Amino acid sequence: MFDQLPAYADDPILGLFEAYKADPRPHKVNLGIGIYCDEQGRVPVLASVRAARALLAEADAPSVYAPTEGAQPYRDAVRQLVFGEVATAPLVVVQTVAGTGALKTGADLLKDLSPEATVWMPDPTWANHAAIFEGAGLRVDHYPYYDGRTGGFDLDGAIATLGKLPAGDIVLLHPCCHNPTGVDPSHEEWHALFDTIAQRGLLPFFDMAYQGFAQGVDEDAWAVRECVRRGIPCLVASSFSKIFSLYGERVGALAVHAPGADAARLLGRLKLGIRRSYSCPPGQGAALVQAILSDRALEAQWRAELESMRLRMRAMRTALHRALGPGSGYLVAQHGMFSYTGLAPARIDALRERFGVYLVGSGRLCVAGLNPSNIERVSAALAAVRA
Ligand code: LMR
Repeated sequence: MFDQLPAYADDPILGLFEAYKADPRPHKVNLGIGIYCDEQGRVPVLASVRAARALLAEADAPSVYAPTEGAQPYRDAVRQLVFGEVATAPLVVVQTVAGTGALKTGADLLKDLSPEATVWMPDPTWANHAAIFEGAGLRVDHYPYYDGRTGGFDLDGAIATLGKLPAGDIVLLHPCCHNPTGVDPSHEEWHALFDTIAQRGLLPFFDMAYQGFAQGVDEDAWAVRECVRRGIPCLVASSFSKIFSLYGERVGALAVHAPGADAARLLGRLKLGIRRSYSCPPGQGAALVQAILSDRALEAQWRAELESMRLRMRAMRTALHRALGPGSGYLVAQHGMFSYTGLAPARIDALRERFGVYLVGSGRLCVAGLNPSNIERVSAALAAVRA
């Protein structure tokens, strides 16, 4: 039976990262995968994380199984970070294997509870979203999101589609730093989206992988918190890969806002899904995040480090915009790690083949891979392929 397996088409992001690593050219530039690098082009070890590691090393605790849903102090800390002033709302929070694991745990729950629902995702969206929900057995479709003519959010297109959906359908939303475009709705646009979602009885599923990369930790959670303030049931997947620079630890969480639901039963359903999937979550990353978020000084240090990552990305956006000139205003209008260049696939190939500059095939450019030593090279390459 194994002879009948179809060939695996490499993942458009992870496959590209492998090709980048294998590229022997010394001046290659990685603007593909979403990994934050510092001024020197290195993945940073945050000082707050280093301090938390030292605390854990000193405690020298044995490696034991975590509770299926994750440790209570971790779950409490995440609840506060994500929901802030609305953290007392009826929420069930579980630790997950990073953001992807949160999406998968949520998708399995939804397939279990609402097998006929369709998941509506923005067009475009993260390359892995459709695979995760289809893999869980749910139907997937898209609503208009990016307006190629304006380079902004297509609110009318989104509302026209969402406004016709049947109650119970699921709407995938990026609360900040939309991946891959960097285009985020304004507060007024979010209000219009929530009005439609509430009128139609739709279920929002937020994917929040970049809380703090657009405007700030609390500002970036605004849409999630507004949804909760309105009493709309929703799911929230959080990833701490980027914002704690803990890519390898696979640390994240899934929160379910379910007003009126029996919280113990809901938690039980989530535990059932986790137990039959991977039993319980990994310990180290969650212990680091918990140590940081439960210590005022460490949390303040982490927030300052997160802010400096955010500002560095903004500075790189401005620098590339200055270098490229007219027609590149999208760089400073968009938020977070990614920008949408609008470059056709042939130009993306030329960037990689002729200049060693790696962008995702969709035209997504990771601004977090830019630094003072590669920005000139990148802008010259972009100008050359655009000519
Ligand atoms: C990305 O979008 O580049 C990141 O989320 C990494 C990944 O797993 O695709």
